[in-house]
Amino acid sequence: MSVMVVLGTQWGDEGKGKITDLLARDVDLVVRYQGGNNAGHTVVIKETTFKLHLIPSGIFYPNVMCLIGNGVVVDPAVLLQEIESLRTQGHSGDNLRISGQAHVIFPYHKDLDSAQEKKAEAGRIGTTSRGIGPCYVDKYNRRGIRISDLFNQEVFKAKLKWNLDEKSWILNNYYGMKVSYDLDSILNEYLGYAHAIKKQVVDESTSLVQEAIIQRKHILMEGAQGTMLDVDHGTYPYVTSSNPISGGACVGAGFSPRAIDEIIGVTKAYVTRVGGGPFPTEIDGKGGEELREKGHEYGATTGRPRRCGWFDGVVMRHASKINGLTSLAVTKLDVLDSFEKIDVCTAYRLNGKEIKHFPTDMAKLEKCEPVYTELSGWRETLGKITDYKHLPANAKKYLDKLAELAGCKISLVSVGAERGQIIKL
Ligand code: GDP
Ligand code: IMO
Ligand code: MG
Repeated sequence: MSVMVVLGTQWGDEGKGKITDLLARDVDLVVRYQGGNNAGHTVVIKETTFKLHLIPSGIFYPNVMCLIGNGVVVDPAVLLQEIESLRTQGHSGDNLRISGQAHVIFPYHKDLDSAQEKKAEAGRIGTTSRGIGPCYVDKYNRRGIRISDLFNQEVFKAKLKWNLDEKSWILNNYYGMKVSYDLDSILNEYLGYAHAIKKQVVDESTSLVQEAIIQRKHILMEGAQGTMLDVDHGTYPYVTSSNPISGGACVGAGFSPRAIDEIIGVTKAYVTRVGGGPFPTEIDGKGGEELREKGHEYGATTGRPRRCGWFDGVVMRHASKINGLTSLAVTKLDVLDSFEKIDVCTAYRLNGKEIKHFPTDMAKLEKCEPVYTELSGWRETLGKITDYKHLPANAKKYLDKLAELAGCKISLVSVGAERGQIIKL
């Protein structure tokens, strides 16, 4: 296999960090292709838990090059903290590269993110308030400042001035805030960041990726967020501002779709969501709380409690098709160990009719009721199982159901957070 994409099939937090870390052992290059430090990818190696926000989850193998791709939005202060925190834990991070084409998050992006959310009140998205959306807005509006701009002081200063003038006007006059940005102090702060990351910045990051493809190197494209948070194909407007789907990998790393060999959909054995927006299989009250506690479902970035629900086969079908999944990596199966009965949503009921496709119109989606099939639990501890044949019969039946709904095979089953807690099929 030369190019494999690893992405989330739900609303994020499926366990992409764990699966990427596992698969990265056998690759030469890992590329993060979209999102920013709204992501929180957890990797557990023995007793140590690492939470990565920007750095690709292949960083723990010194021989694997890890690239922050052109499609990512980078908060350099966060990146430097992350590099520092890895260093103190014994990982040099010398294998990290950053695309010069990636866009930079500035203080006004974070201020705009918070101001927008505050003003929205009822229609609040529940963003991570990391400035992700406003930074992508600037990118698409061609006002963005890229990493490479930080190394050309004249260009950088002119672009920054223009942005500070515009953003402070909007924040003060439309959002009623009282901000005043000092051009020189922000300029110097970011020049300092630029100096600190200089050695790791690659101007031609797409050439680096393409050269690796030509040389038939093994490459893993690591998605952040998930299919249902995709700005085009998710539950718009309750989404993030990028394209986590497989197509987004080509854009955010810079290579042809023809190069992709494998697309692995990371799929939690149930579903969670952080922030606002529709969630058809959400379990209210005690049932939801039970899943949250058993699965430790609290955000890796913001610490917010995650909303929990049963596996959604309609979402699964949608994700399978839009991404062209070649296999699934099912995670957190162990969280369901103690359940006597487990519901799986196989369709939605809309205006008295059963539908199997995911409605893109939010007004329709809000009216959808999940149609469930009840499966029996296995009531055994799966955490130590590493061979598929030792899984209880009911756990196998559950996995078969997920594979049937996805219309593809399962290649990996994760039964615990630690690196070794995995079953390869
Ligand atoms: P990501 O954003 O997709 O990388 O996922 P997160 O790291 O935000 O959330 C997944 C959480 O589940 C993390 O705390 C992981 O350590 C944990 N985790 C991953 N796989 C498993 C698993 O198979 N079982 C259990 N119990 N926890 C897991
Ligand atoms: P990983 O990579 C879960 C959610 C936010 C909010 C919406 C928009 O760890 O799976 P944003 O700050 O992106 O503008 O927020 O998207 N969100 C995530 N939810 N996992 C993530 O990343 C997320 N990144 C953003 O909670 O609902
Ligand atoms: Mg996460």
